[in-house]
This record gives sequence, C-alpha cells and structure tokens, in this order.
Amino acid sequence: MKSRAAICFGVNEPWKIEEIDIDEPHAGEVKVRMVWSGMCHSDEHLRTGEISAPLETLQAFGVDSMYPIVGGHEGSGIVESVGDNVSTLAPGDKVAVAFIPACGTCFYCASGRQHLCDMGMFTLAGPMMSDFTWRHHLGGENLNRMAQLGTFSETLVVNEASLVKISPEANLKAAALISCGISTGFGSVVDRAKTVPGEVVVVVGCGGVGSGAIQGARIAGARAVIAVDPVELKRSKALEVGATHAYSSLDEAVFEVAQITQGRMADVVVLTPGRLTAEFTGKAQQIGGKDARIVITSIAPFDQGTIDLNLFNFAMFNQALLGTVFGSASPRNQVPRLLSLFEKGDLKIDEIITREYDLDGVQQGYEDLEHGLNVRGIVKISDG
Ligand SMILES: NC(=O)c1ccc[n+]([C@@H]2O[C@H](COP(=O)([O-])OP(=O)(O)OC[C@H]3O[C@@H](n4cnc5c(N)ncnc54)[C@H](O)[C@@H]3O)[C@@H](O)[C@H]2O)c1
Ligand SMILES: [Zn+2]
Ligand SMILES: [Zn+2]
Repeated sequence: MKSRAAICFGVNEPWKIEEIDIDEPHAGEVKVRMVWSGMCHSDEHLRTGEISAPLETLQAFGVDSMYPIVGGHEGSGIVESVGDNVSTLAPGDKVAVAFIPACGTCFYCASGRQHLCDMGMFTLAGPMMSDFTWRHHLGGENLNRMAQLGTFSETLVVNEASLVKISPEANLKAAALISCGISTGFGSVVDRAKTVPGEVVVVVGCGGVGSGAIQGARIAGARAVIAVDPVELKRSKALEVGATHAYSSLDEAVFEVAQITQGRMADVVVLTPGRLTAEFTGKAQQIGGKDARIVITSIAPFDQGTIDLNLFNFAMFNQALLGTVFGSASPRNQVPRLLSLFEKGDLKIDEIITREYDLDGVQQGYEDLEHGLNVRGIVKISDG
C-alpha cells in the first residue's frame, strides 16, 4: 500500500515527504494507522549523523548506511491488521510505539527491564527484526526506519514487540508524547535517580524530555525543582508544569541551589539538553552535593568518549553517574502508568505542546525546535 512519510536521505539533508510503498505485515508484525507523532530531538540527532550504528553493525544487517530512513519514533495510532502469530494485538486496538522493543521473554524483559530488551540491538539496524527483510520501499529502494518505527508516516508496519497496547479510552495525543519524551524524563528522575520526597532536583534542558523530568520531580515530592534552560519560553513552561525556580544557565542556578540547601547542594541532577557535551557533567557535579545522582539522559554524538568529572570529589562526595534509556522503566508498565496520571490531571501534556504540524511540516517543526519556538511540536497524521 501507499503511505506518505518523512524521509531523510543523508547526513544534514532536510526531511522530505515522499509517497512510499509499504508491504503487508509478515508473521509477528502489525500494521498501524498513525494518529499522532511527537517531534523528539533524537530524530534531529539522526538527521545530523550524531545517532548512528557502527558501520560493522550496519553491514552485518546488509546495509552500509542508516539512510534513506523514515523518521520519527514517538507516536500513537490504531491497529489496522496483524500478521500471523500476533497474539497480543488485534485490529482496532489503540497503541503507543516503543523505541526499544520489548519481546517479553529475554533475560532483561523477564527480569522486569523491558527497556533493556535484547531486541534493542536492532533499534538502529535497517531491516525488520522478524526476518531481516524490508517492508518499506521507495521506487524499488529499501527504506530503514528510525528505531524500527518511522512514525512520521501515515502507516507503519512494525514488529509486535515495538507496540504497547493502551486502553480504548486512552488519549492518543498524550500517549504519543508519553511514548518517548515524557516517559524518558519522568523515569530519569523517578525510576533511575529514585528521587524521594523532600529532595532537591535540578533539570538541565527543559524541552519535551525535561518537561517529563520536571513533572517526575514534582510528583515524587521534591521540595525544589530547579529548571535550567537558556530559552525564556522553556523556562516559563517549566514553571507552569512544576519547576519551583528557573535559570538560564547552571552557573546562575548554582547560587540558588546553595541557598535553598544551606550549601548541601542538589540531590539529583538530570541532564536533558538537546545535545550533550563533555562539560555538562563537570557542572552537574558542582551543583550536586554529597550522594548526588547525576543522570545522563541526553544523547551525545555517538563517538563521544570523554567527560569532565573531578574524580577525587566524585569518590569523596559519594556521587553517582547514571545513564538511562527510556528513563529506565519498562514501556508496557510506564506508558499506562503515565497515561493514568495524565487522566487524573497530575501529568501536564497539552501544556507543553506548543505547535501542531501536518506531515508536510516535519522539516519546519525541527527548524522551529532549533530556533527555540517549541517545547514539544507534534504532527497530526490522521483523525483518532
Ligand atoms: N536516553 C533516552 O532514552 C532518550 C530518549 C529521548 C530523548 N533523548 C535525548 O534527550 C535529549 C533531550 O531531548 P528533547 O526532545 O527534550 O530535546 P529538546 O530539543 O526538546 O530540548 C532540549 C532543551 O535543551 C535546552 N538547552 C540547549 N542548550 C542548553 C544548555 N547549555 N543548558 C541548558 N539547556 C539547554 C534547549 O533550549 C531545549 O529546551 C536529546 O539529546 C534527545 O536525543 C534521550
Ligand atoms: Zn525520543
Ligand atoms: Zn526482551
């Protein structure tokens, strides 16, 4: 069948809308009509070449490049049809996507860590996980898909493991943002840093992921949530969704944190800027106190191998540096959990959606993000 989709043809090429061909689902695969797709920063990393599987890995899957690739990995939709042996989904089911698939039976899934599922090794590979062939084509050429998804498309064919079934009443717009950005930020604070009531949390970078982190801190009972972002719009939205203070840089925020903690400094520092560089860790360490948990959520260029850290202080202050993927929680648990907090009114999502686009607006949306105009942009693909 035909589907309009946003494709990137090479490093730093703009997103272009093409009419592509999508095959029917093979065994273990599901066809989804997309309704909403959020505009996470990770697709911009993909476009600029900062997210890439090593060449040897790509070649093992029979490709030399990530491109051409269908973009998007944050979204929601409705199941249209299922291939053979699909047991958990049926036509008409509402779904959110999972950028790390969850098979349910590997060592990590079986021990409650679906975000570490062994099928995650295919996330940056080109072909389908089921049989290593392609379902998406443009004029005879095979198309890869961001995170085995490619949500900037009217239709998806994905592995069953890449979908989270949500309730028939679920709000698909909220589910789209929960499927990556909100869950990742929320989990960074709640599930990874294990923030407890009364702690002081600093969130560095207040876009879609940072907005989830700020709300995780508020809901976990942090006594102060310090938002850091150079863009005024982001700071004002941060205050609207739960930050207690907002500063344009860590250098400015450090005095406030010293004051509100009587010099003890922050318990949790979450790094969610659009692009991580080495100096963020050094500054995060300085604003963190004894026993601080510093969480690295942002994506750095894939070959970034060094960080700034005072190792003497790191040991003597008993600090911890923690990486996180998807906020260190299982998608099939976290997505329904956060949807229920949204339904209850505790989790603010509509407030952070600053602009809606159609598929033709994907490139414009990423330019708007670059210019500081969006907390989260969202693409409306079809009626829910
Ligand atoms: N670990 C994961 O599983 C995971 C999942 C999703 C996204 N990510 C990554 O998380 C990061 C954030 O994603 P996003 O979609 O929220 O991006 P975003 O672009 O929406 O937000 C990033 C924010 O950082 C701010 N910023 C830029 N420079 C800054 C600085 N020096 N100090 C403080 N703030 C600064 C920007 O103004 C912006 O508001 C990206 O790197 C993304 O790729 C990681
Ligand atoms: Zn994302
Ligand atoms: Zn698994």
